[in-house]
Amino acid sequence: MDQVELHPGLRGIYLDNTRSSFIDGTAGTLLYQGYNIHDLARESTFEEVTYLLWFGRLPTMAELRQFDVDLRTNRAIPPGVMAVIDLIKNGHPMDVLRTAVSALAAFDPDAGDNSFEASIRKGARLTAQFPAIVATHARLRQGKAPVAPDPLLNHAANFLYMLHGQKPDATSTRAVDLDLILHAEHGSNASSFAARVAASTLADLHAAVTAGLATLKGPLHGGAAEGVMALVHAIGSPENAEPYVKRLLAEGKHVMGFGHRVYKTEDPRARHLRDLARKMGEDRGLPAWYTILTRVEEAMAPLRQKGIHVNVDFYSGAVYYLLGIPEDLFVPIFAISRIAGWICQVLEQYANNNLIRPLLHYAGPVDLPYVPLKDR
Ligand code: CMC
Repeated sequence: MDQVELHPGLRGIYLDNTRSSFIDGTAGTLLYQGYNIHDLARESTFEEVTYLLWFGRLPTMAELRQFDVDLRTNRAIPPGVMAVIDLIKNGHPMDVLRTAVSALAAFDPDAGDNSFEASIRKGARLTAQFPAIVATHARLRQGKAPVAPDPLLNHAANFLYMLHGQKPDATSTRAVDLDLILHAEHGSNASSFAARVAASTLADLHAAVTAGLATLKGPLHGGAAEGVMALVHAIGSPENAEPYVKRLLAEGKHVMGFGHRVYKTEDPRARHLRDLARKMGEDRGLPAWYTILTRVEEAMAPLRQKGIHVNVDFYSGAVYYLLGIPEDLFVPIFAISRIAGWICQVLEQYANNNLIRPLLHYAGPVDLPYVPLKDR
């Protein structure tokens, strides 16, 4: 066999040009379509960031208003998909969301149309329906009636309302909105890559988004926030944090919420969620609980010399927990945000398509004699 240069995990390989986001993993910089994540985190909303990602520029007031109306008026789930959700309500919320999105393709008037305009219409519907699916499923599995969407509420507030059945306060709404902004887009991460691979075959948007959802589920990607909360519960009290983390490291285990394929310094998204988790923990009378998180960060400090720093998911799980959100909804909430980035990248892929089809280097035997079944 020929010797080839392998790139396991496609580490360090550039696939294409993009305008979607820029990541400098050494400086800890993240830009969406040229705009710094810190400015967007402070000034923007998830609705505006989604527009920015899909159209490549910030909207005017009138454009944002229309886009917002499109999101607010497309939240309803078709009865057929409601029936599917009810049928599989005992499954993991990511499995339910993925299956519901597949089912939605059968009800979408633009199914099969991959034009930019149709993809934007489908994208708005899916983005609006994601939180409705997650919240509806969360209630159905608890034996509660689904809550109808409220078009007077923005994207973040409506999600909390459909989940808890009560209008959220401004702090909770802002917390979800900020979390959605920070998770919306992140270069060639595994789920966006999967969405691009599907789109590169000219499969439609529902197929690409389903591929993204399937890939986001794993604990090395979207599942880390859930793992962080499991860690906090297992640690139990602040003084237990350091020995617990040392034990994990001695066993060669990865500590969830640390490390990143691209960032070799602190993930720039983490600081916004760290501040928010601290404030929410204090407001809600759970300061000890936030202290566990800081002690874990301190115990992980020696790994900084290896480029292992805190990532976005370390504090996002904490924020969801403080909002009273069940832990198995953390990955679906990541998806509620990341769909903005998947669609952005699928639109880029369609606009300049090239079938994504890397090679595998064959490393097995050759010319084996075929032995008939009866002789084996
Ligand atoms: N805890 C302890 N050691 C770690 C960790 C960690 N979380 N992450 C990496 N390392 C070690 C790793 O064992 C390796 O050590 P050595 O050189 O001695 O073998 C070294 O650091 C390099 O790590 P790597 O495995 O080559 O890094 P990677 O780029 O393949 O993996 C990662 C990146 C995110 C999968 C990994 O850091 C990890 O498993 N982190 C925990 C899961 C997590 O928090 N994921 C969320 C990522 S942010 C959200 C997203 O974008 O999806």
